[in-house]
Amino acid sequence: MTNSSPTDAYHNDSAPGGKAALGPHDVARVGYGAMQLPRLKDPTAARTVLRRALDLGINHFDTAYFYGNGVANRALAEEVAGRDGVVIVTKVGARPPERGPMPLVPAQRPEELRRAVQDNLDSLGVERLDVVNLRRVGPENTPLPGLPRVNLEDQLAEMVAMRDEGLIGQIGVSNVNDDQLRRSLPVRPVCVQNAYSLTSRTHEAALALSRSKNMAWVPYFPLGGAFPGSAKVWREPEVQEIARELDVAPAQVGLAWLLHHSDHTLLIPGTASLEHLEQNVDAGRIRLDEPTMARLDALRPTTGARGVLSRARERVTSKASKTERRR
Ligand SMILES: NC(=O)c1ccc[n+]([C@@H]2O[C@H](COP(=O)([O-])OP(=O)(O)OC[C@H]3O[C@@H](n4cnc5c(N)ncnc54)[C@H](OP(=O)(O)O)[C@@H]3O)[C@@H](O)[C@H]2O)c1
Repeated sequence: MTNSSPTDAYHNDSAPGGKAALGPHDVARVGYGAMQLPRLKDPTAARTVLRRALDLGINHFDTAYFYGNGVANRALAEEVAGRDGVVIVTKVGARPPERGPMPLVPAQRPEELRRAVQDNLDSLGVERLDVVNLRRVGPENTPLPGLPRVNLEDQLAEMVAMRDEGLIGQIGVSNVNDDQLRRSLPVRPVCVQNAYSLTSRTHEAALALSRSKNMAWVPYFPLGGAFPGSAKVWREPEVQEIARELDVAPAQVGLAWLLHHSDHTLLIPGTASLEHLEQNVDAGRIRLDEPTMARLDALRPTTGARGVLSRARERVTSKASKTERRR
């Protein structure tokens, strides 16, 4: 592990986006998601991105063993793990596919969660994982045929057992619906990680519940994700217009909106690009006034699968109101 590099500026006081609680940890509100790192196919380049993130004041890193079959974790082990004040959040509930990066293979049974915790411990080179998200995948969360039905309470019991054994510091939950989030409360999760962004706000109720229970809200796909067909926040015409007015990048507008929308939100945008990493950190400095927030609040996606849905919904609504007017 390379714990003393000339890039120890992560100790500096400037926390990107300010600080907020992640359970007992105080972290910068702009963190880093490591899912894009394996795309680089170059461990040195991946480590360079992580070093720059530390330099910029990021001290919250999100990862999983299944990101590149240990690739992201091994880069984190080299550059990040074991540093004071740095929190690494990982997740369990899937294993890497045999070939390629996707689709992940669900691994939801309690014994599989335990195996995944061990894989994360080994690849991160630590004795205890700071925070582990139980990434829930089941027929009620993911509309894929043949998904095994595993009881949430059995999974949570295994997570608690591993916390009691000292393998896990804190528990988080991910990809949960409102009912599952409520059922998770007895185990005191410190964070919720659901898909959420300016272009995808279906989890507004979970966001509110997490805030009321002092859990950090850590949206995944904060920029709309990297997958083809997803509604990319920075492609939205209104976002681009506001970016021009503020002289910032469109992606920064989307991230700044998340930070302003709720003060318990922590960002983990994923990038393999140093330029984007710097932009994302700088988004923590952007101030959006009330009229701008109102414009963004009113935004309905025009691109990606959600754009198609939202346009279809608009057509139905306008047809219904025309029929109503004719009556
Ligand atoms: N719990 C879960 O089930 C779950 C699921 C998915 C992801 N996650 C976590 O959430 C993190 C974020 O999600 P994500 O990485 O999938 O999606 P994301 O952060 O919404 O978007 C990543 C995409 O945005 C691009 N990007 C990043 N910064 C940009 C900028 N400033 N301008 C323009 N494009 C930019 C990236 O490309 P470049 O690389 O070219 O910058 C990449 O294509 C992941 O890294 C992972 O840690 C969790």
